Amino acid sequence: MFAANETGGAYAEYLAVKPAAVARKPANLSFEEAASVPVASQTAWQGIFTHGHLEKGQTILIHGGAGAVGAYAVQLASHAGATVIATASGDDEAYVKSIGAGRVSDHRKEQFEKVVREKVDVVFDLVGGDTQQRSFLVLKEGGHLVSAVQPVSQEEAARHRVSGEMMRLAPSGDVLAKIARLLEEGTIRPDVATVYALQDAAQAWKDIATKLPRVHGMSPSGPAAKHGKIVLRVA
Ligand SMILES: NC(=O)c1ccc[n+]([C@@H]2O[C@H](COP(=O)([O-])OP(=O)(O)OC[C@H]3O[C@@H](n4cnc5c(N)ncnc54)[C@H](OP(=O)(O)O)[C@@H]3O)[C@@H](O)[C@H]2O)c1
Repeated sequence: MFAANETGGAYAEYLAVKPAAVARKPANLSFEEAASVPVASQTAWQGIFTHGHLEKGQTILIHGGAGAVGAYAVQLASHAGATVIATASGDDEAYVKSIGAGRVSDHRKEQFEKVVREKVDVVFDLVGGDTQQRSFLVLKEGGHLVSAVQPVSQEEAARHRVSGEMMRLAPSGDVLAKIARLLEEGTIRPDVATVYALQDAAQAWKDIATKLPRVHGMSPSGPAAKHGKIVLRVA
């Protein structure tokens, strides 16, 4: 079984979680891979489907498409039959395209609103700030701006005739079971950057803070990967 802990905090061998938040662990995933799934994937699912109302044939712009949540959003939106545009660093372009984005705008080199010519149905914002502000310019009337990082100005949303809301993950065993099926059939994939032993949690935070999360850890698939979640092995 696996689940996202609603109250946060997973540095423990045992946790109490609500039964309604639990789903069966995909048989093909290791425990480290499974541990990396619930928070990022459910945030993506609820952001794009529950709050963003994304449908087949629509276009979505995902800010931060190479991140842990963004990578699930790209995969899920692409699988749902949407056209996916993502913002990411230029060196992540090949990765983000490989998981389903049709187009990638390099946030370090260009302003997405100058290159995304068509209007989009949904913006999923995992970046905030100025990026969120400029997102109103590319949304269709009636579209949805969903942010996982900061509140959305209701004045701006009304002015552009779109809906805008900040979402917060609400762990759901039903959603997680659907995600588990997609993982099990290989439609989407998890991404673990680094696994640390529980006693090295402080080092993990230091490495994250210095943007060198892969130096001291060990990727389960050999050389440490650039993307994905950092996992603590508790036993
Ligand atoms: N509301 C909720 O319930 C909820 C749940 C989970 C996560 N979150 C939040 O969601 C956010 C994303 O989480 P995450 O785990 O996916 O983080 P992450 O793995 O650190 O990914 C963030 C990504 O954004 C990219 N990025 C940074 N600045 C950007 C910009 N201006 N334009 C486009 N991409 C940019 C980063 O790449 P480079 O730095 O290489 O450019 C990185 O790939 C975090 O703020 C997290 O706290 C919220």
